[in-house]
Amino acid sequence: MSSPQANSWTSPKKALEYLQRADTIPHRVEGEATLLEFIPPSAKKVLDLGSGAGRLLGLVKSLLPQAEFVALDYSPAMIEHFHAAFPGEDRVQLVTHDMQNPFPALGAFDAVVSSFAIHHLTHDRKRGVYAEVFDLLATGGVFCNLEHVASPSEALHLEFLEKMGLRPDQEDAENKLLDLETQLQWLREIGFTDVDCHWKWREFALLAGVKGVVRCRVSSS
Ligand SMILES: C[S@@+](CC[C@H](N)C(=O)[O-])C[C@H]1O[C@@H](n2cnc3c(N)ncnc32)[C@H](O)[C@@H]1O
Repeated sequence: MSSPQANSWTSPKKALEYLQRADTIPHRVEGEATLLEFIPPSAKKVLDLGSGAGRLLGLVKSLLPQAEFVALDYSPAMIEHFHAAFPGEDRVQLVTHDMQNPFPALGAFDAVVSSFAIHHLTHDRKRGVYAEVFDLLATGGVFCNLEHVASPSEALHLEFLEKMGLRPDQEDAENKLLDLETQLQWLREIGFTDVDCHWKWREFALLAGVKGVVRCRVSSS
């Protein structure tokens, strides 16, 4: 089993560095706005994986004033900022958990969302998370993952870094980037329907799928 130190998100330095530049990440608001389009207005319970300080959860919450929210993260610094952002809110619960390990019992959800978090997990665990998300969703529920994915070539990766204002040596060495197609294929294999990439800018992509209704065909004889 992986230790919580498998990546350094538990260090306050890394968490605070991210929070300082979170608003400046190019094009993220386009991805976030597209993600919000796929949240069912009737959703009553929403899970945010790798919630950080609650940026995405706050956006979804503004759409669903009556819904309940569960946030999941394991970084003490992020969790402190999260609690400061949602002080004493009964509808918002935070679960401390290292996603590299299977989820604890969390209940059932109408939507599971995530932004820029799952790419920190090993590839095996990414797939495991996707399968566990499928099990956590109620029928008709949606999974929306705004994610950092791998470029199809080194040249495109270097261009991405340049657009981000980063030299190659400044790249986060702990990123575990995986190509988009593999992840979409995994979602289909797991049983999600309407799987698609609804938005993409270079290495940022919105992957989504629905836990569809299983229709039984009655054959006419
Ligand atoms: C780039 S931040 C994104 C935070 C937030 N979703 C946002 O969009 O602002 C990545 C988040 O994933 C969390 N994270 C990374 N690895 C994790 C793990 N193994 N288990 C739980 N959370 C993890 C970090 O603590 C951090 O809050």
